Amino acid sequence: MMTRDEIDIKQYIDEQLEKQGVVILPEMEAKESMQLITYLGYKPAMTMLDPWYNRGVGGVREDYVPYILEIIDNIKDNTDHFFLWGFPEIAAKFVDRVNKPLAFVTWITWFFKNCPSVVRGWRSSQQACLHFATATAKMYPENFFNAQQEIRFENNNMRFVPGPNSVIEEPLLVGFCGKKEQTGHPSQKPEKVYEKLLLMSSKRGDLIYDPMAGSGTTGAVCKTHNRKCILSDISDEYLTLAENRLGVKRIPVDILEYFLVTV
Ligand SMILES: C[S@@+](CC[C@H](N)C(=O)[O-])C[C@H]1O[C@@H](n2cnc3c(N)ncnc32)[C@H](O)[C@@H]1O
Repeated sequence: MMTRDEIDIKQYIDEQLEKQGVVILPEMEAKESMQLITYLGYKPAMTMLDPWYNRGVGGVREDYVPYILEIIDNIKDNTDHFFLWGFPEIAAKFVDRVNKPLAFVTWITWFFKNCPSVVRGWRSSQQACLHFATATAKMYPENFFNAQQEIRFENNNMRFVPGPNSVIEEPLLVGFCGKKEQTGHPSQKPEKVYEKLLLMSSKRGDLIYDPMAGSGTTGAVCKTHNRKCILSDISDEYLTLAENRLGVKRIPVDILEYFLVTV
């Protein structure tokens, strides 16, 4: 049973969500963040997980795949849609391994031609995003309709409902590409890429969650499309980038700790 103070933190986050749309939690591990979200009873329509690539912040882990699967287990019962990012050779390892009630829906490819890599060999030009969802999760292809299609859909006069393609072509944020969007985060995703995932899996007012939020791309797209959003990340530095980008201060860690003290 939740204590009085625990109910307060939920109220506090709810008020912040109403007021500013985006809530940034203090820096914390993704698993811890998911446990908190679950404990407070939040059920995000969509959860975005864009993990570090086994180098940089997050470090190098021998047990990378089981570790990410363990993280996912902490949110699997509470979200309708779940997107997992990775390079194709990493993403492939997860296709059949995410636990129920989530089930694999589709493999999405983000294709870009402007990779600045000078490594001799194949030039990387894609990243993968795996879509998982529960059996009852709703999809929103109507978010992509043009005016004519909207009318046909409303009149029940559409034999095939077209959704977006599972290949998204957008340049990497590098050099002059997406210059205004760049925050300095080393693996920031373009908003245009996240936008499609968001529109396919949610409607206005829905709650979206990203526990490895980096520079806050998920939050930026949620603001544009009127979704509520909870973000966290393990890095103080990257959360500062997200704060500046979204114009939202994170919840101070002492407030969170104060509220979560059991009375
Ligand atoms: C690929 S980046 C996410 C980039 C983000 N999608 C964006 O567009 O800015 C991965 C993020 O995971 C964070 N991270 C690494 N290990 C983590 C962990 N155990 N828990 C939470 N966040 C972690 C890193 O700090 C990094 O910001």
